Amino acid sequence: MNNQPELIIRGKRIRIIQGAMGVGVSGPKLTSAVANCDLDGWGTAGTLSGIGLSLLGDYGKHYAEGNRLALLDAIKATRERSPNGVIGVNVMHALTDYPGLVEFASKENIDFIVSGAGVPRDLPKLVENPEIVLGTIVSSVRFAKTMCKAWAKYDRKKMIVVEGRKAGGHSGFSEEQLRGTECDETSLESIVRGTVEVAKQFGNIPVFAAGGIYTGLNLREAESWGASGVQMGTRFVPTDECDAADEFKWAYLNAKKEDIGVIKSPVGRPGIAIINDVLRGVIDGKKIPFTCEYQCLKPCEPSESPYCIAKELVAAQQGTGGFQFAGTNAYRATEETCLDKNGDFITVGTLLDTIISEYNS
Ligand SMILES: Cc1cc2nc3c(=O)[nH]c(=O)nc-3n(C[C@H](O)[C@H](O)[C@H](O)COP(=O)(O)O)c2cc1C
Repeated sequence: MNNQPELIIRGKRIRIIQGAMGVGVSGPKLTSAVANCDLDGWGTAGTLSGIGLSLLGDYGKHYAEGNRLALLDAIKATRERSPNGVIGVNVMHALTDYPGLVEFASKENIDFIVSGAGVPRDLPKLVENPEIVLGTIVSSVRFAKTMCKAWAKYDRKKMIVVEGRKAGGHSGFSEEQLRGTECDETSLESIVRGTVEVAKQFGNIPVFAAGGIYTGLNLREAESWGASGVQMGTRFVPTDECDAADEFKWAYLNAKKEDIGVIKSPVGRPGIAIINDVLRGVIDGKKIPFTCEYQCLKPCEPSESPYCIAKELVAAQQGTGGFQFAGTNAYRATEETCLDKNGDFITVGTLLDTIISEYNS
């Protein structure tokens, strides 16, 4: 570590955050497993994804209300498994029920709330509890500055996650930027370095690097750019505790580099996913018929969308179809690295030990 500000929560210096993965991929099992890892000097934090959770259980007909209840259940289940761990919730700003979900979640026993997919200027107003760390996800130095300015008047604990273009899930970059050659505007290193400079001017807010952070060596590099730690998603998927079905995890193990690509999404931003038959069909102009009971995403136009993203992601989580979001590194998951000697997925504890020994070697 150089002179980075430290994000201390529950007495732990947070260096690895497991990023939120919807729908239900980072649920109570994964989030609590990461939060429970008690590694000397290595604070780890787990993030629950707060999107579409009611679709994974029976929460009645009212979608928004059901989602709030489902999120409460997920928080409670995570806290039960990890009474002292650092746990947070991600609520995408693009959600129609964003204020409701944030206010609901922030009354619970959580340590941070992080929002991306939009401009969450209103987050500090929605979260009354001053102990909850507020996080924003940015993908450019300019956006980092906008958020720092917007939150400057709030004397709160804050963090910034810089999500680069290799990150799984929805991206803050345009399709051209995702497909094009890396440049200053899209290199994680330059965005992190620039954001760290901006964050210094606004109270030295800790900055976390995300998107393509796969090994301990990547973590070491991120710290050398001034990051206080990293956020990782892809590498946590093929683990025993990850809440998705084994089919989801196997999709990572089976994916080749060329299978991972950019898709258009009803969220309004492109995303990075494993291009399977479902997505190939959509790319070829096929529609997957659906009825929309509740418009969960502000930018979604159900009548124009070729599929319901929530339903496809739920099917993927349950191993019954759909498609899997994945970072560009997902092809690096292999049987050798992700399965133990019994052929089971490795535990989060084993994974974190590996990452730390990579960092130290
Ligand atoms: C399967 C999957 C689902 C994701 N879902 C979300 C989400 O719902 N909300 C969000 O803010 N980020 C989401 N992300 C991004 C992660 O939180 C994290 O920032 C990202 O995975 C980091 O990059 P990496 O995949 O290269 O490790 C998702 C990532 C993956 C792989």
